[in-house]
Amino acid sequence: MDALTALHSRVSVSRLKEPAPDQEAVDNMFRAAMRAPDHGLLRPWRFLILRGAALERLGELFVQATLLDEPGLAPAKLDKLRGKPLRAPMIIVGICSPRDHPKVPVFEQQLAAGAAIDNLLIAAHAQDIGAIWRTGPMATHDTVTSGLGLSAEESILGFIYLGTPDGPRRPLKQEDFTPYIQDW
Ligand SMILES: Cc1cc2nc3c(=O)[nH]c(=O)nc-3n(C[C@H](O)[C@H](O)[C@H](O)COP(=O)(O)O)c2cc1C
Repeated sequence: MDALTALHSRVSVSRLKEPAPDQEAVDNMFRAAMRAPDHGLLRPWRFLILRGAALERLGELFVQATLLDEPGLAPAKLDKLRGKPLRAPMIIVGICSPRDHPKVPVFEQQLAAGAAIDNLLIAAHAQDIGAIWRTGPMATHDTVTSGLGLSAEESILGFIYLGTPDGPRRPLKQEDFTPYIQDW
């Protein structure tokens, strides 16, 4: 797939199945992530790869986190939470790791890390890998961030669910970009 086709056609895929992307495909995704625009070349990001038992451990973290806030939550709801990370054979956690820099504020470093995640998503799509960027309350919960080993300065920007698309991709209608553009 050429670059413009990939950029024009990327779509989130929420229904994902085995197999997970292989090592070559994952390496291509990270190579694309590393090409994100990055003020000061600070590389203010890191990624965790979760497969197999690690996905189950993430589900347990979601349960622990939620029970702290809602101790009486019904077992069926806890089971649902526990199963959320199992909706894909692989999750890449995209983390912003801001560096101290006199000229590059944390906000810009978060933008760079977000751009790295987007490059990763487009590289996944270009290789026919299904992917969806998810966040939700678990992305900012202390139990989850500390359980995944983040420092106090770091933040989870997204859980990127990856796998083989299960079913046809959502058809895209060409969106009119002109309302978002003005000559000035
Ligand atoms: C920062 C961010 C957080 C997101 N969080 C979620 C989420 O928690 N759940 C979800 O279903 N999609 C999430 N998405 C994906 C969007 O829902 C998705 O991109 C949007 O629906 C448009 O669909 P498309 O990607 O197929 O164009 C997130 C996207 C971004 C950029």
